[in-house]
Amino acid sequence: KTITWTPLMAEKGGYRHFMLKEIYEQPRALADTLAGRIREEQGDVYLEDLALSDEELGGVAKLNIVACGTSWHAALVGKFLIEKLARLPVEVDIASEFRYRDPIITPDTLTLLISQSGETADTLAGLREAKGKGGKVVAICNVLDSSIARESHGVIYTHAGPEIGVASTKAFTTQLVALVLFALKLARVRGLLDADGCRALTDELVKLPRKIEEALEQDEAIEEVARLYMNASDFLYLGRGNQYPIALEGALKLKEISYIHAEGYPAGEMKHGPIALIDENLPVVVLLPNNDTREKVISNMQEVRARAGKVIAVTDHDDPLVRDNADQVLVFPSTCDDLMPVILSVPMQLLAYHIAVLKGTDVDQPRNLAKSVTVE
Ligand code: G6P
Repeated sequence: KTITWTPLMAEKGGYRHFMLKEIYEQPRALADTLAGRIREEQGDVYLEDLALSDEELGGVAKLNIVACGTSWHAALVGKFLIEKLARLPVEVDIASEFRYRDPIITPDTLTLLISQSGETADTLAGLREAKGKGGKVVAICNVLDSSIARESHGVIYTHAGPEIGVASTKAFTTQLVALVLFALKLARVRGLLDADGCRALTDELVKLPRKIEEALEQDEAIEEVARLYMNASDFLYLGRGNQYPIALEGALKLKEISYIHAEGYPAGEMKHGPIALIDENLPVVVLLPNNDTREKVISNMQEVRARAGKVIAVTDHDDPLVRDNADQVLVFPSTCDDLMPVILSVPMQLLAYHIAVLKGTDVDQPRNLAKSVTVE
């Protein structure tokens, strides 16, 4: 069942900005992304508008994911999910690059477009490029009946509801969850996941809205960190694996709405450049999930602190090792590693939001940016 809405129906609902309202809507939005799509008994997922048969999906040999901006960050997380769960090779492109690079599209190539608005000109051009070369195309979109949704063979709607704030928040986390569902579908069709394996992840998905509510309870702690660093002229965001795209997203959120220069980097790559920027004036936001790269990330924190940089650790596991190697520690609920990017997106959003509010910028309508970029 689909729900129709218009931007006019959206109001700030007591929140100071649309962005904050949309951040707080995430528990509900994520529940809507999941609604009706988990088949608990069969240990499977159901994507009502995907429009590709199991045979067609099973015949896919390569997936291209194409998107812009925040949606491109979701695509990068999608590569981790799909390659891990479904063992299908995934290539991720920025749409304005994809459309002009004469991409290799064979009949067994599937192209996935990700777009909140469904109207981004470069993403739409990427869709037409892939389709024109005889490939199948599906889209993850938020806006019903948008151009990208209409021109794709199949679509997975995020059902996040209208997003008014130019900086994308709930559209992003619902894209991540839609990608988890799509990865599960591919893994089931390809015979790489049994019913129990699928249920292990869907059980965690179902708990996610409640965990995001808990994550939102850290709002005041995040605001305090924002106060400490609001006058910094640069920020570095570090993450490894599926948190590297979240580092990129954290940096993008901050630059979009606070106009502070920020860079996201894979933590292991810091030594090849960004380390030269570290001094006592550089806050470094470190994404530290409790997974098998944790120790590596903690070494990176030590490298930052050895050069007097400030470390803000964002983690789901607080212990003396983290405390000893960070200036501030923000602690969030735990879930399985595949879903941790969703949880750690919340502090990225709130940190950028509070810094922007403290600096007095126009949070919902930042300068020079548009919600939907329908020209090249
Ligand atoms: C614009 C928006 C971003 C968004 C990007 C892609 O730059 O300001 O928030 O991520 O377009 O938009 P889409 O609607 O295709 O996801």
